[in-house]
Amino acid sequence: MLSKVEEIKASALEACSQAESVKELEQVRVRFLGKKGELTLLLRGMGQLPAEQRPHFGKLVNEVRDELESALAARETQLFQEEETRRLAAEALDITLPGRPMMRGTVHPVSQIIAETKSIFMNMGYEIVEGPEVEWDYYNFEALNIPPDHPARDMQDTFFITEDLLLRSQTSPVQIHVMENRKPPIRILAPGKVYRADSDITHSPMFHQIEGLVVDRGITMADLKGTLQVFVQRMFGPDTKIRLRPSYFPFTEPSAEVDVSCIMCAGAGCRVCKDTGWLEILGSGMVDPRVLAKVGYDPQEVSGFAFGMGVERIAMLKYGINDIRLLFENDVRFLKQFSSQGGRLC
Ligand code: DAH
Repeated sequence: MLSKVEEIKASALEACSQAESVKELEQVRVRFLGKKGELTLLLRGMGQLPAEQRPHFGKLVNEVRDELESALAARETQLFQEEETRRLAAEALDITLPGRPMMRGTVHPVSQIIAETKSIFMNMGYEIVEGPEVEWDYYNFEALNIPPDHPARDMQDTFFITEDLLLRSQTSPVQIHVMENRKPPIRILAPGKVYRADSDITHSPMFHQIEGLVVDRGITMADLKGTLQVFVQRMFGPDTKIRLRPSYFPFTEPSAEVDVSCIMCAGAGCRVCKDTGWLEILGSGMVDPRVLAKVGYDPQEVSGFAFGMGVERIAMLKYGINDIRLLFENDVRFLKQFSSQGGRLC
C-alpha cells in the first residue's frame, strides 16, 4: 500500500502540472482529494493494515495530501495569471484608431430667424420677453378686444384645454402681461410658439410668432413704419422697401398689413410674389385705446404700436422653402443647408 501512495502521488503531481485551465485543475483535485478521490479512498482503506503500520501510513498519506494541495494552489495561481493575461490581450483597445466622425449640428432656420430678429430689435433698445404657451382665454382674446363671438375663437382654430384655458393662438397676449405689470415707456419683443388647428403646406399646428410692442407718450404710426423699415432692411437687405395696407385686427386701430418688396425679384414680379412685386410679412397697428384702458393706462396720455409676424413664413421667404413641413421634419439633409459650415464633418 505504501508503494500505492507513491504511485498516486506521482500521477497526481503529473496531472496537476499538465492541467491547462483552472477548470481542469479542479477536476484533478476532485479525482485525487475529493470525497471519492483516489487518495481519500486509500486513507479509508487503512483499516486493512496491521495496527502498527497505520500511524506511519496515515502520516505519509497526509504528507502527500499536503504536498498535492500546495502543488494545486501554485498551479492554480499560475493558470489564473495566464488566463488573465490572455483575456486582457483579447480585450485590449487600440487607442490609436481614429474616432468615429460626428456631424456638426446646425442652427435651425427658425431659430436663426428668431435670433436675427432679436438682435435687430435689441440694437434698437427693445427688451426680449416671454409669455406662457398655456394661456387664459382672457389674455388670448378678451383683453385683446376679441369679443366672445369673434370667429378667431372658433374651436376649429384654437386648441381649448378647458372653457377658459387654451394653447395660445398668437403671441399678442404677451402684450397684456407686460402692460399689466409695468408702466410705459415699454419697448418689448416677444418670440415664442403658438398653436392653431390648421395643417397644410403653409400651416402647421405649432408655429412661431414674434410680437413687438411699444408704448410711450406720443407714439405714432410714423414710428411704426420707421421701425419696420429698419427691420426689413436689416433682415432682407438694404434695398428692401415696405408698404402698409389698411387692414383689421381687433386690438389695433388703425391696423395695417405690412408687405416687403419681393426678396426674390426685387419687385419686378415672379412666382413667389405671384407677380405683384410684394410679399406680406406681418400684421401691425396702433394699440387700440380700449386695450390700453383695459390694462389701466390712460389712452389720452400714452399711445403705442404693435406688430406680429410668423417666423416660419419669414424663414420660407428668406430661404425659398416651399413647404412648411420641411421645417419640422428635421431631415439632416435639409437642415445642413442652413449652416454656415454646410454641415461639414468635423
Ligand atoms: N396676432 C396677430 C395674428 O396672429 C398678428 C398681429 C397683428 C399682431 C397685428 C399684432 C398686431 O401685434 O398689431 O394674426
